Amino acid sequence: MSDVCVESGCWTVEQVASVEGLREVLRGISVLKGQAPEFDLDNAPGNPVELFSTWFRYAVDVGVVEPHAMTLSTVAADGRPSARVLILKDVDATGWHFAINAGSRKGLELAANPVAALTFYWPQVVRQVRISGPVVADSPQVAAADFLARPIGSRQIALTGRQSQIFHADSELEDALEKARVELEASPDSVPTGWTSYAVQPDEVEFWQGDPARLHKRLRYERIDGGWGRNRLWP
Ligand SMILES: Cc1cc2nc3c(=O)[nH]c(=O)nc-3n(C[C@H](O)[C@H](O)[C@H](O)COP(=O)(O)O)c2cc1C
Repeated sequence: MSDVCVESGCWTVEQVASVEGLREVLRGISVLKGQAPEFDLDNAPGNPVELFSTWFRYAVDVGVVEPHAMTLSTVAADGRPSARVLILKDVDATGWHFAINAGSRKGLELAANPVAALTFYWPQVVRQVRISGPVVADSPQVAAADFLARPIGSRQIALTGRQSQIFHADSELEDALEKARVELEASPDSVPTGWTSYAVQPDEVEFWQGDPARLHKRLRYERIDGGWGRNRLWP
């Protein structure tokens, strides 16, 4: 296997496999190397949806890989946070939408504690967006439309309805997939119970533009009396 090279040098695979080697590699990789576009804080729009939309389109335009992938953080009933990456499905005046199985770990945590945070990071443009607030379920029609627009393989696995449960055997998965395949063939429009579209209705949205000199530009929108206030934050 070839050496592992970062900006500050190269290491053999054996070196990297050691705790010290890995530490050195971690310290040798630089960050905030993307091309940061102008962030005109004084002329930011009054609404975070508008700014998100502008930033998102820019990320798409410059070819950020999977710009719609975001980290969804939830909190269990006992206060333990957990986070995972999901795909953003829509953004509108109601909020930032995603669709999941309500019986999964994240779904159960949202049922126990209907608040969440979403985090986007687009390294190519050195931009991060943080969104947090209460979470509400969209209508069953929205959830059904989301489900039916998914590729067949994604619908089959979702129909098994067992995401995040302990996996015991391949045969169980194969049987469940076959059952889902038969079900989809008989009723192509079937939507699993529990398939739910949610909206994070933010009361806080922060736009962060990174700077290699660490003079990051930060703008936080906060919901105030049904409108939005905004403040710059220290880097
Ligand atoms: C790029 C990317 C996209 C993903 N998209 C989804 C998704 O749309 N829906 C989903 O349930 N899991 C998706 N996952 C998997 C989740 O991160 C997670 O593993 C899964 O939802 C189970 O999470 P939970 O056990 O906390 O419920 C995606 C993972 C990655 C890396």
